[in-house]
Amino acid sequence: MTEARPITVLAISTYVKGHEFLRECKRQGCRVLLLTAEKHRDADWPRESIDELFCLPNELPLADIVNAVSYVARSQKIDRIVALDEYDMETAATLREHMRLPGMGLTTMRYFRDKLAMRVQALDYGIRVPDFIPVINHADIAYYMTHVPGPWVLKPRQEAAAIGIKKIHAPEELWPVLEQLGDRQSTYLLEKFLPGEVYHVDSVVSERDVVFCSVSRYGQPPMVVAQGGGVFTSFVLPEGEEAASLREINREILRALKLMRGVAHAEFIRAEADGELYFLECAARVGGAYIHEMVEAATGLSLWREWARIEIAGGRLPYQLPPLRHDSAGLILSLARQEEPDTSGYNDPEIVYRIKKHHHAGFVLRAPDPARIQALLQDYTPRFIKDFLAVEPPLLKPVD
Ligand SMILES: Nc1ncnc2c1ncn2[C@@H]1O[C@H](COP(=O)(O)OP(=O)(O)O)[C@@H](O)[C@H]1O
Ligand SMILES: [Mg+2]
Repeated sequence: MTEARPITVLAISTYVKGHEFLRECKRQGCRVLLLTAEKHRDADWPRESIDELFCLPNELPLADIVNAVSYVARSQKIDRIVALDEYDMETAATLREHMRLPGMGLTTMRYFRDKLAMRVQALDYGIRVPDFIPVINHADIAYYMTHVPGPWVLKPRQEAAAIGIKKIHAPEELWPVLEQLGDRQSTYLLEKFLPGEVYHVDSVVSERDVVFCSVSRYGQPPMVVAQGGGVFTSFVLPEGEEAASLREINREILRALKLMRGVAHAEFIRAEADGELYFLECAARVGGAYIHEMVEAATGLSLWREWARIEIAGGRLPYQLPPLRHDSAGLILSLARQEEPDTSGYNDPEIVYRIKKHHHAGFVLRAPDPARIQALLQDYTPRFIKDFLAVEPPLLKPVD
């Protein structure tokens, strides 16, 4: 039975993000509840769009969160539960299953949270992935390393932003690392390191249909930037053969991973060795590192806003994509040695957004001509290194 009352959305985010999601829920007439971490109680949340804010003590076990949310649900009906950040997806899926609410359950959630699960699923659907092996059976790993030439990467199944990824050059290098990881080793996988360009595709999905996607290429692979230090750039690809092949593999992967509705940020490598596209990873969330702002600059579409609209529609109401613009856009971001770097020396009219964040410098660029964006990124990168770049190897979060 449906009642004539506003839909109540419970957003969960233990990272401060998703302002536009919360605002859009409010604009659409929803009651908006936000569950966050105690340490973010006083963060700059869009308070005018939040009806109630709940804060969780650090490290609260999942069972206690289920109890706490069920307690809240005694006195107000909750219609949707949405995790705004990657690390809250398990909590949200557990709660949805507990309360039998629509949206992704635990099995599907794992396809997006566990790099092993997404690889196995991709393979089952005939999508190319770098040759990999789970870190489960040592004889299997030894066999793998004698048959799949290195180097390889040992990566955590559930991290983001290139955290914890280690390049392994020879079998003798791997075993001591596994030994050191001890019981944690089975939360890793080993795969072939494939040098090549890294792409990201940011999608809006409604009832299993990819209704929008934006295809971009990182200037340097994110691992190089995160672990080696450097300037992070990305560039929205113009329509053409390259973009079309990425759209196609993105559509295939989203079907394989069974995303019903929402947004996705998928990454692919074009391997130098054979020129083919390989699936790297896919998250059911908005891409980090100001990708949202770059996509909005190119198209006028806000991934956060559309995600909110699709969640509210919940497959029961029709969803319609807003009209789109077809500009080119780019993004440049770097750690800065200055606390508040002065970017006033950069004043090209293509700068549509200046990233304001402690110890960071960065812009979102927009122009009708993709060549102009590429030229600006090429010009700005060495200037950023000189003007801002920190000496310490940076760990940009989130560049995933
Ligand atoms: N198999 C691989 N071959 C080459 N580079 C890789 C491989 N796996 C990861 N990388 C590099 O590491 C980065 C992070 O890996 P990814 O699987 O996307 O994990 P994360 O969730 O940390 O972003 C990639 O963007 C890419 O630069
Ligand atoms: Mg990644």
